[in-house]
Amino acid sequence: MKVLIVGSGGREHALAWKLAQSPKLTELHAASGNPGIASLGSCHPVRADDGESLLALARQLAIDLVVVGPEVPLVAGVADQLRHGGIAVFGPGRETAMLEGSKSFAKELMLAAGVPTAKEFAEPVAPCVVKADGLAAGKGVFVCPDAESLAKALKAVEAFPGKPIFEELLVGEELSMLVLAAGEETLALAPAQDFKRAYDGDRGPNTGGMGSYSPVPGVGSSEVDAILDQVHRPVLAELAERGHPFIGVLYAGLMRTDEGIKVLEFNVRFGDPETQAILPRIEGDLLEALAEAANGSLADAKLGVSEEAAVTVVLAAGNYPAGSDKGSPIEGIADAEATGAVVFHAGTAVWDGALVTSGGRILNVSALGPTIAAARERAYVACEKISWEGMRYRTDIALAAAEREASASA
Ligand code: AMP
Ligand code: GLY
Repeated sequence: MKVLIVGSGGREHALAWKLAQSPKLTELHAASGNPGIASLGSCHPVRADDGESLLALARQLAIDLVVVGPEVPLVAGVADQLRHGGIAVFGPGRETAMLEGSKSFAKELMLAAGVPTAKEFAEPVAPCVVKADGLAAGKGVFVCPDAESLAKALKAVEAFPGKPIFEELLVGEELSMLVLAAGEETLALAPAQDFKRAYDGDRGPNTGGMGSYSPVPGVGSSEVDAILDQVHRPVLAELAERGHPFIGVLYAGLMRTDEGIKVLEFNVRFGDPETQAILPRIEGDLLEALAEAANGSLADAKLGVSEEAAVTVVLAAGNYPAGSDKGSPIEGIADAEATGAVVFHAGTAVWDGALVTSGGRILNVSALGPTIAAARERAYVACEKISWEGMRYRTDIALAAAEREASASA
């Protein structure tokens, strides 16, 4: 099978790495890819949101399956363009991608489907959460416990187009629950958690994500099934009833509150950086499952999950999320991989034959271990081997989970 991955970040490198393990894969291509993906396949200089050029590329390469990574091309309707052109695509069309593309559409759909979520407020009153309506790369949400933070948020949200929405501030543990979906058929991936805040101790601004781990203590298979019943299945049924069956990853960002599970947001794609912790634990042929979903059914798809835990640490530019870094030479990836960890490229480039930084989130280091604590230890040992000027990472990824895991087994 010839596969084209659309996107150029750490998530797409993780997808490329996992799909490259499939015996069914004959050729791997990416648009536009990155230097990490280039070691596994061919990268083509086509923009992820340029549907026409992607269709032309897919035809020229006789691609059997396109896997779309990021949300921007999905919300722009790239999956529709490819599908209308006769190409099998894993990724939803524009109508259903609006679940991620518009917070107000997502709210309306959740209400119609009876899915538990934060209450919407007509006016902003602290404590509350202020959200830009459209896509904002994880940076359009402002959690406001008091009047002062609310005043700042109202100012900051003016930079985003559209009307912001205001909602109840939920308290609890966050959980990312991703499922592969084809219409109303689902295949749950392992539960994961990501770390959105920039600094240790969940301080600082929201980012695209600074690290992740899987599994999540206390979320076993019966909890997963209950979440699918409460959240994913009603949403998929509502979309199908509206005439827009969903094909792709339906990712629910959840809060585990005292009153039960509530949805914070939906994404219509693999999470970044959750994917970098979820995929290393998958046992089985992910390519086969994605191809089946793209063809409309998951009835025959089976994926196992490893007993091992995975932890992913994001190595970021010193001034991320406010800024990024370009052109700083990166050292030590081979040494990091020699420890057994996998290093995914998220924002790198090759200049004059040397690997350099090129973005905000630069690399993702993932490691497996028999426990969350062991996986975390291995990931951090590998991180220490890597360096560039200004490199920064959180040191508390999966720390609380490792402690909880230790007290549960004590
Ligand atoms: P979203 O893009 O909607 O997932 O929001 C990004 C992050 O903001 C979430 O992962 C949470 O950490 C936080 N957040 C969003 N909505 C709420 C809420 N209603 N209550 C508390 N925190 C929230
Ligand atoms: N990890 C959050 C996201 O992918 O949006």
